[in-house]
Amino acid sequence: MLDRSRLRIAMQKSGRLSEESQKLFASCGIKINLQQQRLIAFAENMPIDILRVRDDDIPGLVMDGVVDLGIIGENVLEEELLNRRAQGEDPRYITLRRLDFGGCRLSIAMPLDAEYTGPQSLQNSRIATSYPHLLKRYLDEQKVRFKSCLLNGSVEVAPRAGLSDAICDLVSTGATLEANGLREVEVIYRSKASLIQRDGEMSDDKQELINKLLTRMQGVIQARE
Ligand code: PRP
Ligand code: ZN
Ligand code: MG
Repeated sequence: MLDRSRLRIAMQKSGRLSEESQKLFASCGIKINLQQQRLIAFAENMPIDILRVRDDDIPGLVMDGVVDLGIIGENVLEEELLNRRAQGEDPRYITLRRLDFGGCRLSIAMPLDAEYTGPQSLQNSRIATSYPHLLKRYLDEQKVRFKSCLLNGSVEVAPRAGLSDAICDLVSTGATLEANGLREVEVIYRSKASLIQRDGEMSDDKQELINKLLTRMQGVIQARE
């Protein structure tokens, strides 16, 4: 078992946010060796343990109080919030700081030849996505009825595979959409990385360490601006 007196931080193991998260830890003076395939890394110079997990699991780990801090995309965070609320839970966390990386947008995209004149074009359509709650919130507001098909990855393949009429997925450069013959028709959510903290009591030692890290982050981010 891990030592609960050490500050526990979750970061994405591999993907869009991992390199920047790692850089941020380094610039805050946390010495960690993330080279290996190890899923838990211990800081050498501070009482900090880093858990390297799937990004999608980070909001839940923070909301369940399993980790003290997490670096996560707001898109994944908001989706998990809506998901838990839909199940009757009252999930809690504290946003410590919006970060200056991980920018992307959650968009609806359609095959190049499909007609699109506005959200009403999606009436009674099937839309493949990993973000069913964010998609539903948006299309409910637009009074559009639709069916979502849940795919946890390679969502862009769905229209050509005959699974759906459209998709709703993250777009960063747009290269994945282009490579799959899709065009972005609607942006429904804009996201950046964010540092969040679990709700509930924190020991004085941990809170002091968190404050120290926040001050350093503030300096690092300001210097980059
Ligand atoms: C996203 C998204 C697309 C791709 C878009 O995946 O699902 O596949 O990036 O990027 P582009 O516009 O630059 O081509 P992500 O890297 O977030 O991985 P994940 O969905 O597996 O977490
Ligand atoms: Zn993911
Ligand atoms: Mg993806």
